[in-house]
Amino acid sequence: MKTLSVALEGNRSYPIHIGSGVLGDAQLLRSAVCGSKVLIVSNATVARHYLSWVREALTDLVVDELLLPDGEAFKTLQTWEGILSLLLERNHGRDTTLIALGGGVIGDMVGFAAACYQRGVGFVQIPTTLLAQVDSSVGGKTAVNHLLGKNMIGAFHQPQAVLIDTRCLATLPAREFAAGMAEVIKYGIIADRSFFEWLEGAAGQLLAGDSEALTYAIERSCAIKARIVAEDETEQGVRALLNLGHTYGHAIEAEQGYGNWLHGEAVAAGMVLACRTAVLRQQMTEAELERVIQLLLRFSLPVTGPRTMDADAFLPHMRRDKKVKAGRIRLVLPIGIGNAEVADSVTEETLREAINDCGRCAS
Ligand SMILES: NC(=O)c1ccc[n+]([C@@H]2O[C@H](COP(=O)([O-])OP(=O)(O)OC[C@H]3O[C@@H](n4cnc5c(N)ncnc54)[C@H](O)[C@@H]3O)[C@@H](O)[C@H]2O)c1
Ligand SMILES: [Zn+2]
Repeated sequence: MKTLSVALEGNRSYPIHIGSGVLGDAQLLRSAVCGSKVLIVSNATVARHYLSWVREALTDLVVDELLLPDGEAFKTLQTWEGILSLLLERNHGRDTTLIALGGGVIGDMVGFAAACYQRGVGFVQIPTTLLAQVDSSVGGKTAVNHLLGKNMIGAFHQPQAVLIDTRCLATLPAREFAAGMAEVIKYGIIADRSFFEWLEGAAGQLLAGDSEALTYAIERSCAIKARIVAEDETEQGVRALLNLGHTYGHAIEAEQGYGNWLHGEAVAAGMVLACRTAVLRQQMTEAELERVIQLLLRFSLPVTGPRTMDADAFLPHMRRDKKVKAGRIRLVLPIGIGNAEVADSVTEETLREAINDCGRCAS
């Protein structure tokens, strides 16, 4: 087992425990809980496999449980209010601990409930999808969706601990696993060339579910994210680099209707577009772009946007991106493999060329 720390100011630093069997270590989970009462929140899909593991570690506490409906469509204020109502009905005080057992949808909603209940209580993340293990459970962004926009209502609220058991990935559908791998590959491109190279060599082991390889991939991903979050907790600067591929990716998600493309799939295609843009600006070589494409393909991820989307379909979405400042589209672009920048000088001509070039590769 590996333990990392997210180093934050005050007494808010917290551990991330990663490994095969983390949830079998009752002491680990028990030590992350402060008061005498907890609420475990999950959904039926996840609870069926893993709720008993968590429950068994907390036998000396008062444990309430709540299963939410499964899916992004339920990441709403209404579902969130249901969490708060249960806490009130069962007389949970300020010393309660919420435990999020599930993917990013559960983690984001439970985190936001913990941020708001009695002005903030503690919570523990037990992420069970690869995406949640390498991304959403670390960093303290919590949110629910509004009809007018995804993740538009939320707060920064850091967990007390993150417990990642790689055994949970055994039941994850292959497509969800691949979507998480897109974010893993992202970390290599933006921050760590040798990790990217390691991924090229270890793809077969990762696809076969080798627990040592999975632990290392998750550990490196969390370490990179933890370092960036510690430097820029509320995304004033360097944290934006975590959005490589996301400006293009969000355009694909919005255009195709949320749910048709998984987030990680849209990010994979978006990263290729960002790399193509970087090649046009001569800050990445064609050979490096090809390596990114080949690695994404190893995990059966898409490397082009939808055939129907040309530059005219992408650009209106990209102009609405959160990173737009003073009307300029700001894009995260790789500088080779292992480094990246936020560029605000990309011309519309270059954007169009990159999108249309990728469109040509697709046909
Ligand atoms: N807070 C952040 O920083 C951040 C970052 C990235 C994404 N997100 C959010 O995360 C969400 C996406 O998360 P996700 O990809 O984990 O989706 P998800 O939570 O919907 O999980 C995907 C599916 O897998 C199921 N599942 C979860 N664990 C499983 C397991 N071990 N075995 C079998 N099935 C399992 C879920 O029930 C669900 O049906 C989005 O809402 C996104 O906005 C947040
Ligand atoms: Zn993402």
